[in-house]
Amino acid sequence: MEKKNIDWSNLGFGYVQTDYRYVSNYKDGAWDAGTLTTDATITMSECACVLQYAQTVFEGMKAYTTEEGKTVCFRPDLNAERMIQSCQRMKMPVFPKERFLDAIYQTVKANAAWVPPFGSGASLYLRPYMFGSDAIIGVKPANEFQFRVFGTPVGPYFKGGVRPLTLRVSDLDRAAPRGTGHIKAGLNYAMSLYNIVEAHEQGYDENLYVDSATRTHIEETGGANILFVTKDGKLVVPKSDTILPSITRRSLVQVAKDYLNLEVEERVVGVDELGDFAEAGLCGTAAVISPIGKIVDHGKEYTYAGMGTVVEKLYKTLTGIQMGTIPAPEGWIMVIE
Ligand code: PLP
Ligand code: COI
Repeated sequence: MEKKNIDWSNLGFGYVQTDYRYVSNYKDGAWDAGTLTTDATITMSECACVLQYAQTVFEGMKAYTTEEGKTVCFRPDLNAERMIQSCQRMKMPVFPKERFLDAIYQTVKANAAWVPPFGSGASLYLRPYMFGSDAIIGVKPANEFQFRVFGTPVGPYFKGGVRPLTLRVSDLDRAAPRGTGHIKAGLNYAMSLYNIVEAHEQGYDENLYVDSATRTHIEETGGANILFVTKDGKLVVPKSDTILPSITRRSLVQVAKDYLNLEVEERVVGVDELGDFAEAGLCGTAAVISPIGKIVDHGKEYTYAGMGTVVEKLYKTLTGIQMGTIPAPEGWIMVIE
């Protein structure tokens, strides 16, 4: 199979229309068989529940080409499970795990020419999502839904590639206690748009959210979890019921313990601890591990090593596992043949 003629190494994080996407419709209480289509557009009611009341959830994952030339996906089972959690919270029908995995498999296989080559630094970002599609005007869940998966080749999430990021501690909140911060619903991102535009206008790369109940604990950014490294080399990851359970973060915790012999603390992290850490990074599918250079908390500036020793080791080990140069733990890699 011949790859598309693309300047893979200079891709940013944007949408490029690929050849095939997967679509399945839910009606009268059941999902249809699902199919691949070349139609990248959606036609639905002007009153669709997703358009009026934002009933939509999504996932983000990546396909890579390994050094041996295989096409692989990283821990898609965890995305399937998290989407089920998201659907349950949003009163949407579950798309079964086996079907989710099959949809990913079919979409990646059909778009194999779009999976960036090994060594390019790019990957095929996959976006599974579901939305309420029938006309709903009183506030209630939809009766009909569509599940789709498309792929788009991407490079680094942050402009300028891997470089130390500058975050600001946000004045606006992302997630309420007992709200929806722990699921991947479009609404969590809609409400962050005002804040990300303002952050960019002020020269920051991202907003760092604190817990909205006490505003004393570190949560996460708009599109990634955060991790810290202490001066004596321990990995510290914030624990909270109102952040997204990042698959990258959960994988890094295991990598730190089993591959790098690091001590790991998963615990509440106080805003008043920001000055105690040597290194910091954002982690997520899109962000991979993006080193943090500075966090600004209302005039107080905390600086970090950027791609410091521990962040770099985590980055190299994780991406090595994803690209097949380092053996992966059992069950982490789905090969698409
Ligand atoms: N937190 C938020 C708000 C996100 O949007 C993402 C991206 O998916 C993450 C964290 C990282 O999660 P994951 O590592 O599963 O991609
Ligand atoms: C991902 O990392 O997959 C996300 O969904 C984050 C998003 C901000 C692009």
